[in-house]
Amino acid sequence: MGFPDVRMRRLRRTPVLRSMIKETNLEPTDFMLPLFVRHGEGVRNEIHSMPGVAQLSVDMLVGECKDAYDDGVRSVILFGIPDHKDAMGTGAYAHDGIVPQAVRAIKAEIPDMIVATDVCMCEYTDHGHCGVIKNGEVDNDATLELLAKESIVHASAGADIIAPSDMMDGRIGYIRKKLDAGGFNEVAILAYAAKFASGFYGPFRDAAESPPQFGDRKAYQMDPANAREAMREIALDIDEGADIVMVKPAMPYLDILREARTRFDLPLAAYQVSGEYAMLHAAARNGWLDLDTVMKESLTSIKRAGADLILTYFARNAARRFA
Ligand code: PBG
Repeated sequence: MGFPDVRMRRLRRTPVLRSMIKETNLEPTDFMLPLFVRHGEGVRNEIHSMPGVAQLSVDMLVGECKDAYDDGVRSVILFGIPDHKDAMGTGAYAHDGIVPQAVRAIKAEIPDMIVATDVCMCEYTDHGHCGVIKNGEVDNDATLELLAKESIVHASAGADIIAPSDMMDGRIGYIRKKLDAGGFNEVAILAYAAKFASGFYGPFRDAAESPPQFGDRKAYQMDPANAREAMREIALDIDEGADIVMVKPAMPYLDILREARTRFDLPLAAYQVSGEYAMLHAAARNGWLDLDTVMKESLTSIKRAGADLILTYFARNAARRFA
C-alpha cells in the first residue's frame, strides 16, 4: 500500500501525536560531564574555544559538581592538569595528584555523583604523548605499568569508573588485573575502545594543555577511515574485561556506533568531543545555527545511533532541558 492510502503526515499533525510515536528520548542520566581540574584556589580559567567550559581548581570543581547535580547530571569524568610535567608523567600516578584530590573532594561532598577519571599520560608528560617515549616512539608495554599505577591511584581516591583513553594495546586487561589485585574489583572500566586520531580534539588540547610536542597520535589512535578495525578494537577491549565501551568522536562516527550497537551487548558510550561542541557554539554565535536545536539534534542522533551514555560538554544544559 502506498499514497494516497498511506499518509505519513497523519501522525505528525500535533506535538502530542509526535511525542506518542517518538523513538528516541533523551534523559538526564544519558549524559556524563567532562571537567578539567588544576591546582590552586578560586581558579576558573575559561577555555576560549569551548564556551561555558573552564579549568577549575578543586574548590571550584566541587561547586560546579553541585550545580551540575542540581541540574540533574549524575556522572562526571575528570581530566587533570598537573603543575609539573616530565618525561615519565609522574603527576599521573602521584597519590596526592590533582585528580585524586578532586575525586576525594567530590565524593566527600556529593557521594551520589558517579565519578569517572580519564586515565592517560598526555596531560602529564612534557612531550605530550599518551605514553612513555623510547627511541622516538611511544612504547606500548612500558606505558601499561604507568597506566595501571594511575588507575590504582584514582581507584584508591574513590573513583567509580576508570576510563583509559591512551589506546595502548592490552591496557584494559592489564589495568583490570592490577585493579583486582589491589582490591578494587568493584571499580568499573569504561574503555575508550574505538578512539580515532581526530582533528576534532583541537579545543580539548588547549583545555587539557596536552598537545603532542612532536609528531601526532596516529601511531596509537585509529585511522578515521577504518570501521572494521574499530570492531576489532572493541571486541578486544570486551575480551580484556571492559564494562562499557566507547566510540570517540561521536557525530562523525555514527556508523561505527550503530555497527557496535548491532554487534555487542555491552553498554555503549559515545564522546561528543570538544571540536563537535566548539563548532556548534561557533556557528550559533554567528547566528548561523540555533544552539538549543542543534544541541538536541546532535545528542538525539548519537543516542539514536546506539549510545547508552554520552560524554558531552552540553551535559548540564541538556540535563536541564530533558529533565
Ligand atoms: C587524552 C584525551 C583526549 C580527549 C580525551 N582524552 C585528547 C587526545 O587524545 O588528543 C579528547 C576529548 C575532547 O576533544 O573533547 N588522550
